[in-house]
Order: sequence, then C-alpha cells, then structure tokens
Amino acid sequence: MASWKSLAVGNMLSAIASWICLQSFSQRPHNISSVYQASNPTDCLEPTISTTLEQVVDCLNTFTVPEGHYDEFTYEAAQPNATERAAWPRIISSFLDVDGNCMSIVLPDTLVDTYTISQFTEPSGASYCVFVELHGEKQFVRGWGTFVVPATRTGVSRHLHLSAPHPLFDGDTPQQAAALFRATGAKSLFIAGRSRLAFKTQSDCVKGSGNTTYYMTDPAHNKLEPFYDAMRSIFMWQMSNGGCPPTSCAFIQFHGKNTSSCSTDQIFLSAGLGTSTSSIDWYTNDVPRPIKRLKAELQHAFPMWNISMPSDSKCGLTATKNVVGRLLNGIEDRLVCTTASQASLATGFFVHVEQAPVVLSPEMYGPWTEALVNAFEETP
Ligand SMILES: *[C@@H]1O[C@H](CO)[C@@H](O)[C@H](O)[C@H]1NC(C)=O
Ligand SMILES: *[C@@H]1O[C@H](CO)[C@@H](O)[C@H](O)[C@H]1NC(C)=O
Ligand SMILES: *[C@@H]1O[C@H](CO)[C@@H](O)[C@H](O)[C@H]1NC(C)=O
Ligand SMILES: *[C@@H]1O[C@H](CO)[C@@H](O)[C@H](O)[C@H]1NC(C)=O
Ligand SMILES: *[C@@H]1O[C@H](CO)[C@@H](O)[C@H](O)[C@H]1NC(C)=O
Repeated sequence: MASWKSLAVGNMLSAIASWICLQSFSQRPHNISSVYQASNPTDCLEPTISTTLEQVVDCLNTFTVPEGHYDEFTYEAAQPNATERAAWPRIISSFLDVDGNCMSIVLPDTLVDTYTISQFTEPSGASYCVFVELHGEKQFVRGWGTFVVPATRTGVSRHLHLSAPHPLFDGDTPQQAAALFRATGAKSLFIAGRSRLAFKTQSDCVKGSGNTTYYMTDPAHNKLEPFYDAMRSIFMWQMSNGGCPPTSCAFIQFHGKNTSSCSTDQIFLSAGLGTSTSSIDWYTNDVPRPIKRLKAELQHAFPMWNISMPSDSKCGLTATKNVVGRLLNGIEDRLVCTTASQASLATGFFVHVEQAPVVLSPEMYGPWTEALVNAFEETP
C-alpha cells in the first residue's frame, strides 16, 4: 500500500501505520476491494458486482498494475504501439461527444481486442459510458487507464474534468474522484491504470531533483503514459466546445499525501505555479481563477482544516513539474517535459489537489461535493 509522496520509502512500519490510519477513517459504504469476485476488469461493471459507479471504480482499482511489475521489455509491450497511440485520443474525444447511446461510439479496429465500451446504469437511473480495458486476470494487461463520461448531455452539470493519476500510491483517490464526478455531474473522469511505481526506471521526461525520483509509469511526470494523451485530448475537446470559462470549468487532479508531508495543510491546492513573486501575485490578485473559488468553498465546507495554496503555505507540493499542468498552463506539448509554466502564461484551468489521508474518507465526499457545486456554476 501507499507510502504517499515519499519515494525515499524504506520505512515499512510507518507506511503500515499510515495505511491503518487511513482505514480507520474510512467507513466504506460497501465491501472492501478484495472481496470483489471479478475475474477480469469488465466483470466490475456487472450489476451483481457493482451497483454504483464508485463501486465500479473501486473494483477496477484492484486491477491497477502494481509497484515493480514491469521491466523494460514488459513495459514496452504494454505501451500503445503507433497505431494504438493514434487511435487513443480520438476515442477519448468521441466519448466526450456522446449523447444518449454509448454504443454509438465507434471503437477503432486497432483497439477492439484491448478495450471495450460499456454503458453502466445505476439503479438511480444515472448512466455512464465507460471505456475499460478488456483483459487482466489479476491486473490490467496494458494498464492505460479507465475513462468515464455521463451517457447523456443532460447528465452533465459542469465542465469539470476529474482525474486520479496515482492509483494505489495516493490512497483511495480514484474512488474519491469517482464519487465527486458522480455527485457533481462532472463531464469526465480519468483514472490511471498503473501505479506510478509500476516500472521503477527513471522517467526520461521530467527528471527529479534532490531525493525525488520520477518513474516511467508516473503519468504526472511522463508524457508517454496514456494518461497524458487522454488529458490532452480532453483539453482540446473542451477548447473547441466553448472553451474553459473559469466560473464553470476546470481540470482537477486528485492526489493524496501522507500526514507527515505538509502536515499543517489538510488540503493543499496548486495551479501548477510555485512561489516566485509573480506566482504569488497570480494566486492573490483579483483575476478570477477556479482555484481561488474552490479554496474559499473548501474552507467553508471544512472549517476545521487548513485549506492552502502556495500563497498561504510553504508546502512544496506545488506541481510545477506536472506535465498535464504544464500543458494546461500554456506550454506546448513538445516542451512539457522540460519547460515549466509561469504566471504570465498560466490559464488556471489546472487545479492540483493534495490531501491528507483524513480528507479521502467517504465521510468527506458530501462536503467536498458541496464545495465543488458552490465553486463551479452549472453549464447551460
Ligand atoms: C511521508 O512523507 C515524508 C516526506 O516525503 C517522508 O519523509 C515520510 O517518511 C513519509 N511517511 C510515511 C508514513 O510514508
Ligand atoms: C461482503 O461480501 C461478502 C462476500 O461477497 C458478503 O457475504 C457480505 O454480505 C458482504 N458484506 C457487506 C457488508 O456487504
Ligand atoms: C498495434 O497493435 C494493434 C493491435 O494488436 C495491431 O492491429 C496493429 O497492427 C499494431 N500496429 C503497429 C504499428 O505495430
Ligand atoms: C535527502 O535525504 C537525506 C537522507 O534521508 C536527507 O538528509 C536530505 O535532507 C534529503 N535532501 C533533500 C533535498 O530532501
Ligand atoms: C493550521 O495551520 C497552522 C499554522 O501553520 C497550524 O498552527 C495549525 O495547527 C494548523 N491546523 C491544522 C488543523 O492542522
């Protein structure tokens, strides 16, 4: 299990302690993952296994490619080849266009043996199109991730695009993102299919510094992970479908940190800008930005906690090296591995959320939802 945000792992006991800590806050409304009787990922969509979208995601989470799984050969084999890589963003975009019938989405030949399109309808009537990997007995064979959109346009209330890039490592962030996606009527949900530690070779995209190493399967720091292509496709779709107005649209990435990192911030928000004078001005000036309203609403929803941005806290988890954040903040696709954004370019579309274990508890889904609903207007 996770030793969140600590790559200088080593301390098994404290990792276990933090796991126990998370579990004790967690009163999951259903059986824990290990009891799902799913022999392949698509079983997670069976009504006998899952009745809510959150359960589907919880079940699929058990198929996440785990830490240390790949070597250079198996990683290469799991990565999309050129044809698959070309088809992937197109299918992501088709999902965003759906209105009423998930089966109207055309799955390209090159993906038919790898992925499937399912329509998952909850007893509540809420219905979703789910793009999910077909194969994997214990874990996904390819591990490119799971994509979900409401099956109808009327199921979308806000142009919020939620994602969880670090399954297994960042606690139950996939389940949290799924619950908030569902409760807010968000437009899209993307969950990565691999642990950031699945291939423990240093990323040749973003390099770490000091004691931090970023690995190949970390989609926040390697643009060759299918997560990045998916987010880029969603971004392009949003820009050609009304743009991303700060009052009603944002791309929110959910992360989990351990209690000892940035211990006085229960929620630390960043727009992918650090702490330069111009960045601090960006966070504090009068220009409306999604992160500013979200901060205010989260503080209102969780008055007992510190909800901070880089302008309030010295927490170093500022996401300045996050490749999706860089792209959303005006850095060209070809430069995201090497070039940070800056205040003069940052759009504010990107909201990076670091959370202490207590925040990930299902009991917090309600206030979290309220904060999102209050911070983002409904799209007409
Ligand atoms: C939490 O993170 C800090 C800083 O990265 C690290 O020093 C510590 O060992 C981690 N603790 C646990 C329980 O993983
Ligand atoms: C959990 O799952 C087991 C086995 O599927 C079942 O017997 C049990 O009733 C479930 N418990 C709850 C609280 O749903
Ligand atoms: C990639 O894999 C797909 C599915 O196995 C196959 O149809 C396609 O020919 C491959 N493309 C290349 C360029 O290898
Ligand atoms: C790197 O780790 C060493 C040993 O744990 C520690 O003393 C040092 O402060 C760390 N450096 C940074 C930049 O975090
Ligand atoms: C909030 O931050 C202040 C100042 O850093 C700290 O003294 C306080 O303990 C924090 N509160 C919580 C709940 O962590």
